[in-house]
Order: sequence, then C-alpha cells, then structure tokens
Amino acid sequence: MFDPDPDCVVCVCRSVSEAEIVAAIRAGADSPDGIGDRCLAGTGCGGCVEALRELIEDFGH
Ligand code: FES
Repeated sequence: MFDPDPDCVVCVCRSVSEAEIVAAIRAGADSPDGIGDRCLAGTGCGGCVEALRELIEDFGH
C-alpha cells in the first residue's frame, strides 16, 4: 500500500489526480463507472480505466 499522490494526474482528460481517485474509492466507488460518477476520471478517452482498476484493487475493500 502506498500513499495516493495529489500531484500524480492519473486521468489526463479530466485532470483527476491519484488522490482524488482514491478519495472516490474510499467514498464507496467500486468500479471505474463509480469513480467516473464521483470525480469524472475515466469518462474521456478511457485510456486510464486500467489504472483505475488497479487503484480499486489497491485501495478498495
Ligand atoms: S485519461 Fe482518463 S479518460 Fe482519458
């Protein structure tokens, strides 16, 4: 487990940082769609969706 980095932009399309995505996961998002509903990550080109899945695996429960 690592600390989410607020300066690491995971979703370039929507300018969403790793820290914002982890906050969405901790708020209950358990899928890329759930993350998109909360912070818009993954709702552009879709290129970051695999990274979103990895963050769910690392930080989801
Ligand atoms: S980089 Fe996240 S949707 Fe394009």
